[in-house]
Amino acid sequence: MGFIIAVDGPAASGKGTIATRLGALYGYPVLDSGLLYRAVGVRLLAEGGDLGDVEAATRVARSLDPATLENPEVRTRQAGEAASRVAAYSPVRQALRDFQRAFAAREPGAVIDGRDIGTVIAPQAPAKLYVTATPEVRADRRWKQLTAQGEAVTYEDILADIRVRDERDSGRSDSPMVIAPDAALLDTTQMDIDRAFDAARRIVETARARWDHPEG
Ligand code: C5P
Repeated sequence: MGFIIAVDGPAASGKGTIATRLGALYGYPVLDSGLLYRAVGVRLLAEGGDLGDVEAATRVARSLDPATLENPEVRTRQAGEAASRVAAYSPVRQALRDFQRAFAAREPGAVIDGRDIGTVIAPQAPAKLYVTATPEVRADRRWKQLTAQGEAVTYEDILADIRVRDERDSGRSDSPMVIAPDAALLDTTQMDIDRAFDAARRIVETARARWDHPEG
């Protein structure tokens, strides 16, 4: 098994940046699993489909072309909203599972960020982080990011989105937002991204030492 780093957490917690930097540090490929759900939502809408149609969403998820993840459209606010709708469907989650598990199996290691990486996709991951921050701080970060991408949105709209998504992602029995019991919790509310990354790196180094010398 390669060294899998699972980076879970809610929207705009900083997990994506942390995952990207960890991937660069270790030389591992990085998968932003949220992009898979975003791509399903975007393609479904592009085909004129309905986000409430489980069967259509599942069909799109089963035939997803990974090249779609490169499309800048998957990074919009609308795509995030569509993603959280289709992510609520078990058959959609199942359809995207194999791709994520195959990615996690890559040697010598892989970094995946999402909601359920440490619990469902790769429960065997030797390094697990759960990155979080208050909704207000996350909304402020996401608002700055979307504004920089040229989207005309207000902070209040984004805060409302984040609250709805937190609720949708955690309100079901098969909810993806469950913290793995063996995950290290990293609250980035009071941290800038450099400090957050430094804290993440230290958590991963500890896990790495344990993985390299299991009996030590
Ligand atoms: O992380 P990001 O904001 O890109 O995720 C978009 C949506 O995709 C989330 O709100 C969540 O509903 C869903 N998602 C998920 N499981 C993952 C990653 C994302 O359910 N592993």
